[in-house]
Amino acid sequence: MSRLQAEHLYKVFGRRPDDAVRKLESGSDREELRADGTTAAVIDASFTVEPGQIFVVMGLSGSGKSTLLRMLNGLLEPTAGRVLFDGDDITNISARKLREVRSKKISMVFQHFALFPHRSVLENAAYGLEVQGLPRAEREKRATEALRLCGLEGWEKSWPDELSGGMQQRVGLARALATDADLLLMDESFSALDPLIRRDMQDQLLELQKTLKKTIVFITHDLNEAMRLGDQIAVMRDGRIVQIGSSEDILVRPANDYVASFIQDVDRSRVLTAGAIMEQPEAGVSAKEVLADAPATVTEDTPLVELFTPSASSDAAVAVTGADGELSGVVSREQLLSALGEGEEHAAEEHAAKGETAKGETAEGKAAEGKTAGDKSDAVPAPRGATSGTTKADSADEDGPRDAEEVAARA
Ligand SMILES: Nc1ncnc2c1ncn2[C@@H]1O[C@H](COP(=O)(O)OP(=O)(O)OP(=O)(O)O)[C@@H](O)[C@H]1O
Ligand SMILES: [Mg+2]
Repeated sequence: MSRLQAEHLYKVFGRRPDDAVRKLESGSDREELRADGTTAAVIDASFTVEPGQIFVVMGLSGSGKSTLLRMLNGLLEPTAGRVLFDGDDITNISARKLREVRSKKISMVFQHFALFPHRSVLENAAYGLEVQGLPRAEREKRATEALRLCGLEGWEKSWPDELSGGMQQRVGLARALATDADLLLMDESFSALDPLIRRDMQDQLLELQKTLKKTIVFITHDLNEAMRLGDQIAVMRDGRIVQIGSSEDILVRPANDYVASFIQDVDRSRVLTAGAIMEQPEAGVSAKEVLADAPATVTEDTPLVELFTPSASSDAAVAVTGADGELSGVVSREQLLSALGEGEEHAAEEHAAKGETAKGETAEGKAAEGKTAGDKSDAVPAPRGATSGTTKADSADEDGPRDAEEVAARA
């Protein structure tokens, strides 16, 4: 059974949402509804997420990602359609049951850390367990372990503002892991971090995932991040999912011009693998000879970026072996270069055909990114003494997380 299943989900904001869904079902688009003052945030979204998968939802600002995510944990009620979690229809269960599912089985990690400033790192990480009503000793034990997993051993007694942005985000992740929830929902969780720290967090998540095998829905507007993390990626545009597939599917077989123009900036050398572009070895040459001539032997899942050096050092093709260790194909220098060049061709064709790219539509997206970049001031913690004045002034929300959604999630 799939862990999570979305069936024909719609979310319409504004007047007469049901009429709007009928119009959408008969082919109207977002723009037509906007004329009536109605926003179709999510239109007919269907997908399944298998246990242990990282399912990424990728799209520009306003494409409907957060709205979709909020329907997955019952924070927003769909206008139409349903969400099945472990087979239970969470769009149609009692408020009490929903609260229980949310506190025990689903955890959220937000973009802006949502830490309580006047609680220690340990207390922050233990917060979800406190909500569940666990005794102090038990929750501290589990929170300590979660912090260790996230690389924060020794920081338990510190205050959030003594930590860098990356470390604060690790606390957010530890809080989600401590609850043992099977399903993690992550909304732009790494977007406010500097690029290097962001990459670090992505690595950490992938590393944790090897042992924890959570089911994760991860939202991002960054295609490179989507491709690094996602087992499956859903690309959203104007409320609709326009393609679902692995990174390779999307890179090699973009569903339409929109996706094609989107992927032109992707670092193909890190996403495409030897297995995806290899060819059969020349007929009549034995596997033994191919392996002997090859400047290197790699596995099918080796990213192309690791083939450059051997490929440059020899005219012979790089050998590729399968799961059984036998030769399964070769990658010649020509093949390597043409696989990397395809994105450029796509871009050029697009440009010529339409005189536009997906980027042309991102004015809104850029503005949002600008905001995110501005928020990086969060990443540089000031000494505790220096900020205590402002912290006091802010103490109206002393015990409240910074993220309004989290408040709603607790309600
Ligand atoms: N509560 C609401 N009331 C009215 N419109 C809303 C509401 N929430 C979202 N919308 C609209 O729905 C659309 C999708 O918004 P959503 O926040 O889901 O996008 P997003 O893909 O998460 O964008 P971002 O990357 O900027 O976070 C937008 O046009 C937004 O203005
Ligand atoms: Mg959003």
